[in-house]
Amino acid sequence: MKILVTGGLGFIGSHAVVELLDNGYEVVVIDNLYNSNIDVVDSIKKITGKDFSFYQNDVCDLGVLEKIFNEHTIDAVMHFAGYKAVGESVKKPILYYENNLVSTLHLCKKMIEHNCFKLIFSSSATVYGEAKILPITEECEVGGTTNPYGTTKWMIEQILKDITISNPNFTVMVLRYFNPIGAHKSGLIGERPNGIPNNLMPYIVRVATGELEMLSIFGDDYDTPDGTGVRDYIHVVDLAKGHLKALEKAISSQGIYYYNLGTGTGYSVLDLVHNFEKVNHVKVPYKIVERRPGDIASCYADPSKAYKELGWRAELGIEDMMRDSYNFILKQKDY
Ligand code: UFG
Repeated sequence: MKILVTGGLGFIGSHAVVELLDNGYEVVVIDNLYNSNIDVVDSIKKITGKDFSFYQNDVCDLGVLEKIFNEHTIDAVMHFAGYKAVGESVKKPILYYENNLVSTLHLCKKMIEHNCFKLIFSSSATVYGEAKILPITEECEVGGTTNPYGTTKWMIEQILKDITISNPNFTVMVLRYFNPIGAHKSGLIGERPNGIPNNLMPYIVRVATGELEMLSIFGDDYDTPDGTGVRDYIHVVDLAKGHLKALEKAISSQGIYYYNLGTGTGYSVLDLVHNFEKVNHVKVPYKIVERRPGDIASCYADPSKAYKELGWRAELGIEDMMRDSYNFILKQKDY
């Protein structure tokens, strides 16, 4: 079975490609390297001992998609490609709406033209906005997004729903990720944001290596056990495994399905810092600063639907996440 993976060299996509190859799938990757690196091709081959086809192109490019679908019989698509920086999306909304929506529309159009009807889509817990109840179930209201990035995810979910209504063969697994961190245990692939990281874990690792001086914790006056923000951090390898389970279900189902991919456990910013220091025997200096606009106090999943219907649940714990995140950064050759 051959799977097209868009954004397959990115943080989550690369881990999914490893799982697919390890489980006997053939893989075709399209990635424009906007937020990824060409070295990842070799790293994936080294980890898996397997080869795959790679197109260094943009998913918005209809001509390239036509070429890929002509050159390969694609059975299903995992769609990771997309812009994902919350702050940047506020500054560049047109770029975000254009890229994230057009790429998905073009992809679906070409899939249908080539009789490929199985799509696994990277959505985000951000579609729930500020959840009224915790833990968040798939039944919670969606749409209260607070930035253009989040709104693209919400809009794409609506578009995919409409496509499944118009075409009953079209099957979509909407996977709503909580906070993916960690890295492959080999240390060969992981998260490598360009510039100063926006997200907590990439920031912590760079403070630990001394590359950045100090972590700024955005507020300690939230209504949480220690006052700092609580999130549901999930190891990226667990997340990638969830995609394979969703793929298996997509192959034998029709319609649109929604799953939270999280652990169900919330950790605060300080929990993360303390666990990181303990596991890696390194200090992470921090200071408390103002809240970051748009942040919410707590966000964690009820992941029981994914367990019941996909037979998937997260298996790696916070210590694995801390160890693997640091191991990856230490192994980077430019560090
Ligand atoms: N935080 C800090 N200091 C930092 C960075 C983050 O204290 O330098 C705090 C935040 O205030 C928050 C927590 O760490 O409490 C996590 O922040 P992240 O930026 O790592 O992640 P978010 O939960 O804000 O956002 C993530 C993804 C989004 C996605 C959202 C879904 O970045 O793409 O989860 O819930 F939409």
